[in-house]
Amino acid sequence: MTTPSRPVPPTAAFAANRLIDIDDLTDAEIYFLLDLADYYARYLERAHLPPNRLAGRTQCNFFLEPSTRTSLSFELAGQKLGANVINVPVAHSSIKKGESIFDTVQTLAAMGSDAIILRTSDADAHKRLSDKLRCVIVNAGAGAAGHPTQALLDAATIRTAFKSFDGLVVAICGDVKHSRVAASNAQLLTRLGAVVRFVAPPELMPDLQLFHRAERFTSLKKGLDGADIVMALRMQKERMSDQGDVAMRGYFEKFAMTHQTLQYARPNAKVMHPGPINRGVEIDSALADDPERSLILRQVFYGVAMRMACLDALITKGI
Ligand code: CP
Repeated sequence: MTTPSRPVPPTAAFAANRLIDIDDLTDAEIYFLLDLADYYARYLERAHLPPNRLAGRTQCNFFLEPSTRTSLSFELAGQKLGANVINVPVAHSSIKKGESIFDTVQTLAAMGSDAIILRTSDADAHKRLSDKLRCVIVNAGAGAAGHPTQALLDAATIRTAFKSFDGLVVAICGDVKHSRVAASNAQLLTRLGAVVRFVAPPELMPDLQLFHRAERFTSLKKGLDGADIVMALRMQKERMSDQGDVAMRGYFEKFAMTHQTLQYARPNAKVMHPGPINRGVEIDSALADDPERSLILRQVFYGVAMRMACLDALITKGI
């Protein structure tokens, strides 16, 4: 294969030294990450080894909530770039002896970590920690507050299917209230020029004070009218006091994504889902597995490419 040409970093280099929130990035840095993810995607598509950009660097993954896609794609991303990748074995760590997240992260930093990838249910933990840390910290999921690398990989996936973000209508459907993915996507996609809609029953809609730029619909039919992309979300039962008992009642009939309900959207509309999917709850299997309409596995593929881009840019500043 011809070697892919590496995108040029922003004029002022890649200055961000943390990725906790989409607002940690300038527009130029966001576009650089999208281009860098495309560059790494070209290596991954051909199963070719990318340059060892992180040789001699140490990446530490610290996941205090369950994860499949984010934890494994960060691990793979670091390995592919030649980093030493270590995973905190939470169930067997000193967290179980009462050590705090703060002291654990300080310990990982003192061991020489160049980047700490942290997932926690504590929405403010990353911000509190970053002031005290000299290494890079990346938010791999913070309560319902944000999941910026998911939004970035979603944007990279969207770019493969649509020419421009300008005026693109993205309907985010389901449990928007408890979704960190919805929060980061609303931030990022509106910054990129897309129109973001929240489509949910009233009890799953975020507070009105939040996300002023998102349009709100409680009818699936109206919310999907004219949509180019429908992002389905799972019920985040772990963040609901009743484990979703009320929200689940009649949900599939009113809000689930199927080939039939996707007809409310534009004729070429695509369906996305950050995963994990709950088949027969927020999306049916026929649509989730339809390669013509579903971008779900492309999102997973771009998860590795985008996390390679984020690690490279944050640790080496893209130079
Ligand atoms: N999308 C996402 O964050 O998936 P995981 O919980 O499996 O990491």
